Amino acid sequence: MDTRKNVTGVERKVWDLIRELSPKLRDVTENPVLETILIVVKVLGARKEDVIAKDIIVSEKEKNIVKELVEKRASGYPLHYILGEKEFMGLPFFVEEGVFIPRPETEELVEMALDLIKRYSLRVVADVGTGSGAIGVSVAKFSGVTVFATDVSEKAVEISLKNAKRHGVLDRFVVKRGRFLEPFEKDYGKIEMILSNPPYVKKNAILPRDVLFEPSEALFAGKDGLDFYRAFFRRYNTEGKIILMEIGEDQVEKLKTILPDASFLKDTSGRYRFLYLNRRFS
Ligand SMILES: C[S@@+](CC[C@H](N)C(=O)[O-])C[C@H]1O[C@@H](n2cnc3c(N)ncnc32)[C@H](O)[C@@H]1O
Repeated sequence: MDTRKNVTGVERKVWDLIRELSPKLRDVTENPVLETILIVVKVLGARKEDVIAKDIIVSEKEKNIVKELVEKRASGYPLHYILGEKEFMGLPFFVEEGVFIPRPETEELVEMALDLIKRYSLRVVADVGTGSGAIGVSVAKFSGVTVFATDVSEKAVEISLKNAKRHGVLDRFVVKRGRFLEPFEKDYGKIEMILSNPPYVKKNAILPRDVLFEPSEALFAGKDGLDFYRAFFRRYNTEGKIILMEIGEDQVEKLKTILPDASFLKDTSGRYRFLYLNRRFS
């Protein structure tokens, strides 16, 4: 049933609005119409199918909110901060300003982690730099492991907990604020596998406009983008552990000098995007 028939004031049909506003997004996305539809869906609280298939009426107030958000998006502000969530591993994750938006390539890291958990019957896994909880929460959700997660950002701790609750793994997702695995120093011996999608962007890298709205501590890792790996492996004895971390595609050669016994794994598009060290079952 269309419950939106009684909208009053200066009304617009939804597709007139989408046609009017979507061209504003041409410079920031390859999908201006889809992104406008998603913003409309968010503002109207309607179903996407209804927005697409029915000529829903939009009130003046709703129109103004949609227009404001489309203009915000046109300035480069990330779509998923506007929508308040991002899908990862088929699950909706809350995201908001101050938290890194999970990327599709990280889903491949999670798939590999789930294979390793199964193959070696692992029980305790760490997620360093959990952000929205994308890695840790999905690994906990799709396997029986307990996850010890950390992040330097208080906002990330807050949002990852919300996501753990949303996906029913609050009892197996323990998150604490801190650097590397400092908050779990006492439990370090129990951790069998360490996962991370750390910051790995070079300090002076030129990034797309929307990425610059994401927290800098989630992105940048010194002059060559390797500060996180250098500091982590200098600090932790990883004997007896499995390590799986995301890396930048041009970082393999330099990482080989830091970690001569590491393997590097390709993503589905054939680029080396993951560092793998098996110091548990080698
Ligand atoms: C690229 S984001 C990844 C977030 C999430 N794991 C994902 O894949 O979507 C990196 C995260 O690491 C956190 N971080 C950066 N340096 C850290 C450190 N030394 N220890 C713990 N967390 C760190 C940042 O705050 C950020 O949330």
